[in-house]
Formats: sequence, structure tokens, C-alpha cells
Amino acid sequence: MTSTADRTTAPARRRPRALPAAACAAALLLAAGCGSDGGGPGEAKGGVPVVEQGKLTTCTHLPYPPFQSERDGRVVGFDVALVDLVAEDLGVEQKILDTPFENFKTGAFLNSGECDLAAAGMTITDERKKNVDFSLPYFDATQALLASKKSGAASLADVKARTLRLGAQAGTTGESHAKSQGLDPVAFESSDAVLNGLRTGQVDAVVIDYPVVQGWLKDPATADAFRLAEDIETGEQYGFSVKKGNDALRAAIDKALRDAKADGTYDKLYEEWIGPLPASAKDAS
Ligand code: ARG
Repeated sequence: MTSTADRTTAPARRRPRALPAAACAAALLLAAGCGSDGGGPGEAKGGVPVVEQGKLTTCTHLPYPPFQSERDGRVVGFDVALVDLVAEDLGVEQKILDTPFENFKTGAFLNSGECDLAAAGMTITDERKKNVDFSLPYFDATQALLASKKSGAASLADVKARTLRLGAQAGTTGESHAKSQGLDPVAFESSDAVLNGLRTGQVDAVVIDYPVVQGWLKDPATADAFRLAEDIETGEQYGFSVKKGNDALRAAIDKALRDAKADGTYDKLYEEWIGPLPASAKDAS
């Protein structure tokens, strides 16, 4: 099953509050997307409505390895592989659009009919549940504090006590966690920008999902300069989101997740993209 990367333009991504219509226009340039191509909206197997006939259109925010990132012009990752299973069940092909992260909280691109679902290493939160419906949880996550060795930052509390400079990705649970601890992190637009902020010394430490840090630390240059200072147990779980009330698609996603857990596909993909499977992942619904 293949996935295509139909990215919106860089300027659209830098404008976190870009209106759906603007990003839609940007996507049009590359993808003739927005449901206007191939006969517009349609239905997949089982009468599941889709915004573009023959496709399952996923909104994401790149890059977020190991969940979604570009490799040789294709978007690949754990989320991508799981959503491919849903697409396969529905007899359609997954198509991926890169959209501003803000979108995931408001559900704007789901409501405007640009995407069928969002998959972005996204944590299920009560606040987001007001605007979108979530699938079953598919991944347990924690936050990590990655600090420059030079700063000697040992924990979030230490960053606060010593008024070190902290960074986070705008609109993420890492950012809200830091705020809940009385910190005021510099907000970066993407995970790339977070790492860059650390590398260029704009900040001394960053808080971001643990699996992302785990991936970054595989790069010797990163491991040389920075260290995992704290693993912060926030008890987060990732879910895929659909437009409120889109029960048909939500049920199809849940079925694909349940089947993948039952037949070992989930474990195989977890090991391929994340690493050794923790006991908790085996039991997770
Ligand atoms: N899990 C965090 C959240 O939901 C971060 C997700 C960031 N995802 C991304 N594709 N950049 O807020």
C-alpha cells in the first residue's frame, strides 16, 4: 500500500493560523486536492464516506519521526503504516496532506472536508475531544526533556529554578505540560524547528514526545551535545481523529487497530518503527 506526500507549501505551514481555505488552495497547487479531483467526495467499502473518491485522505504535520516523516519523497512511519491498514480494509489508497498543527485541535480540516482523518502522533485530550472524535488509543507516550549538556539541566524543575530557556512545539501537549509546571517555553512551529532551536542555542532544553527524542539521539552529533535529562510520565495516549460524528470511519479505524493487535501486525509495525514492544503496548486495548 502506498502513500503519497501532497505537501502544502512552506509558507502555509509557517502560518499556524492559516485558514483552511488558504491551505486548501495551497494543496490544490500540488495535488488538485480538496475533494475536487477524481470526481470529488465518494464512498469507500462499507459505505464509509471519503472526501475524495478512491482515497483515504490523512492530514498530518511533518516531520514527526518515527510516526510520520519524508523518506525519498514519500511520507512513511508508524502512523502511516497503521492508517494504510485502514485504507486497505476500505479498498482505497491513503493520501497524506501536510497541514498546520493547530488544525488538529480545532478539527478545521476535517470539518472543511479536506481530510478524512488526522494522524500526527497526536495525544487524545479532553480539550481536543470537544472538536474531534478519536479512535481507540494506539500508542502510549511520555514526554522527554532533552537538554544541552552545557546547560547541565537535570529536569523541568531545574530548568525552572535556574531560569534556563526552554522550547516546545506550539500547540502540543509538551508545551501545555511545561506551562502547567509554571514554565513559559519558546514555541516552535515544528519538531524540526524545536531541534534547531536547541542546536542553535536559542534554548537550553526542549520538551517533546519521548519517541521523537529517542530518534534524535540516534544521531551521534545530537547525542554528543544533548542528553535526555528527564522522562516525564504524562500518561498520554495517541489516537487518530475524525470529524465529530463520523462514526463510520471511526469504527473502521478501530476495527483495523483491533485486527492489527489480534493478528500480530501491530507488534510487527511497532518493532519496525518504534523499537522493542513494551509490555504496556501489548495490553493496550
Ligand atoms: N503528542 C503531542 C500532541 O499531541 C505532539 C504531537 C506533535 N505531532 C506532530 N506531527 N508534530 O500534542
